[in-house]
Amino acid sequence: MAHAWSSVVAIVSGLGACACGSTAERARPSPQDAVERRVEEWLAELTLEEKVEQMHGSGFAPVDDLYGTAENARLGIPSFWMVDGPRGVRAGRATTFPVGIARGATWDVDLEREIGEAMGRETAAKGGNVLLAPTINVLRHPRWGRAQETYGEDPAHLGALGVAFVEGVQRHVLASAKHFAANSIENTRLSVSVELDERALREIYTPHFERVVRDANVASVMSAYNRVNGEYCAENEVLLRTLLKDGWGFDGFVESDWLAGTRSTVGSALGGLDIEMPVSNHYGFRLVAAVQAGEVPEATIDDSVRRILRRKLQYSLDTPAARDPAVVESAPHVELARRAAREGIVLLRNVGGALPLDRAAIGRLAVVGRLADVPRLGDEGSSNAQPTRAVSPLAGIVAGAGGISVESFLTSAPSSAELDSISGADAAVVVIALEPDDEGEKLPGGGGDRSSLALPAEDVALLQAVSARQPRTLVVLEAGGPVLTEPWISGTAAVLMAWYPGMEGGHALAEILFGDHAPSGRLPAVFPVQEADLPPFDATSDQVTYGLLHGQAWLDARGTEAAFPLGFGLGYSTIRYDAIGLDGSSIAADGSLTASVTVTNTGARAQAEVVQLYASVVESAIERAPVRLVGFARVELAPGEAATVEIPLRGRDLAYWDAAAQAFVLEPAGIVLSAGPSAAERPVSAAVTPR
Ligand code: BGC
Repeated sequence: MAHAWSSVVAIVSGLGACACGSTAERARPSPQDAVERRVEEWLAELTLEEKVEQMHGSGFAPVDDLYGTAENARLGIPSFWMVDGPRGVRAGRATTFPVGIARGATWDVDLEREIGEAMGRETAAKGGNVLLAPTINVLRHPRWGRAQETYGEDPAHLGALGVAFVEGVQRHVLASAKHFAANSIENTRLSVSVELDERALREIYTPHFERVVRDANVASVMSAYNRVNGEYCAENEVLLRTLLKDGWGFDGFVESDWLAGTRSTVGSALGGLDIEMPVSNHYGFRLVAAVQAGEVPEATIDDSVRRILRRKLQYSLDTPAARDPAVVESAPHVELARRAAREGIVLLRNVGGALPLDRAAIGRLAVVGRLADVPRLGDEGSSNAQPTRAVSPLAGIVAGAGGISVESFLTSAPSSAELDSISGADAAVVVIALEPDDEGEKLPGGGGDRSSLALPAEDVALLQAVSARQPRTLVVLEAGGPVLTEPWISGTAAVLMAWYPGMEGGHALAEILFGDHAPSGRLPAVFPVQEADLPPFDATSDQVTYGLLHGQAWLDARGTEAAFPLGFGLGYSTIRYDAIGLDGSSIAADGSLTASVTVTNTGARAQAEVVQLYASVVESAIERAPVRLVGFARVELAPGEAATVEIPLRGRDLAYWDAAAQAFVLEPAGIVLSAGPSAAERPVSAAVTPR
């Protein structure tokens, strides 16, 4: 890395105010005007070739697992060093958190901010300065192979968690929100065109990107592999210029997804792609020639380079923090991974109080399943962060069982003698997990979209065999998104959705099973009864058309009941919704309101509640989700405790995109705001009118 840069930065550093909106610890951006002045000075000094050199990655092979871009030794301009998230830093060993969707299931923005901060710290400790996370694509359909990386199906939820993560990361390094936009299928990701009208684009597939730009000033955005309305995302002027840069005022840079993520020279430069990663297939000398031939104005190059230099200056990349291996997998980070796993586990079913298990009342516990002693961390694609050690479900249960005798049956097909033994135990925990071949980023070696939402046949057979004999069958599911719970759920006593729960997953699971903590995770995506209840998933066509509805909204619009609705999750206590109040009776499209919701823990155990706020437009004249999530807040309640939580509500989340007016507008119709523990249960409501 360059050092001449230090003297240059000294001119603009240490002057106080933060230009990037974060409460930077180390990355203290310099005041905007000083940064901009310096950017212009460099721009004036750089040759065309040097400018273009700033606009591509410097090699397919990473250095120390970091993908670099060029430095400029003459002027002392440092490189970017990019590294993958989003479940941990994918460079050597690192704290491996639960996958994105598991963290989505916590609905805990403060926790997500802390996780972002921990990942930012570990990125810097490994010499990186750009973390390629968060993934905030809408989970259009749970068969998407990368469902696990994102937070869930809902734009308001994605936006809130994305903002928190970016804020955390950017206390240390640059974050990169990906994959912009409508990245939702793996098997055809390099070719598929997602056809979207303006409303679907603005209301469903991009508002969370807008939020990480406007609310968290995300440093960079990665364009997606796929096409949107026929144009590859890395050369999609509507996405990169009309929305992102011109519309939302994004002043950072866009980098392409890797290799086939960039398809052209002139089209990409004009379309708004600032950096081709990880090598210069299309930029480099080809881009220089295109400028010389008059096909790309030099002003376009200057705009890209300005964005790149601005971020390098704002984040003082010339003076990287000392690589401090002690922060990587440090005790606080590992504890954070455990807390996230615990908060993200969702209790879907609990018949007759089968859970929690009372250590004093259980003599023998059977743990069953081929993968029960394998820590399932997620897929083996670009997000494949790995820890030094990870705790499997069985290991966590053994460690947390106290005096209970734990007997394991690590098979999908127990013999009849084994089944006798399992049925004779006081309870059986059956662990069912998907594997990287079942779902994951599509790479030559494997992964790809799920072929079905059903569990593999051998797992269904195992669940049915055990639950037929063992009345206290407790199922633990590990998967990157919703699965079908028919036809095996009826005989089971309890079901926990653990997602891919990270390096501490086994311990977190034991804490929930034995009641050391009550489960408080909530589904960030609907679980349908059958796959046909969702929109079709097409992983073979080169063109798919998405409308305004998917997930819970798709079911609601058809009056279809979910197996488990968006937001659903049981606890070990009972929560009563007492009242909802609003601090106003009307709202404007660019205005806001605060809803106050009072809830009481009426049970005998401490319990966290995720209070969810939904909106419906009464007799809407346009197509829209019958009920839409517009905010949420998490609150911890002691037994008997009542609390009033405040949930901010943005008029924008009630509005629709009026293509004729080119603006978000409110329908002249009544709006009902309702709060409750899931999309399907909203016991308190209040009315508001548009203004
Ligand atoms: C993935 C990105 C990732 C990049 C670099 C791509 O294949 O789609 O999410 O950041 O590789 O590893």
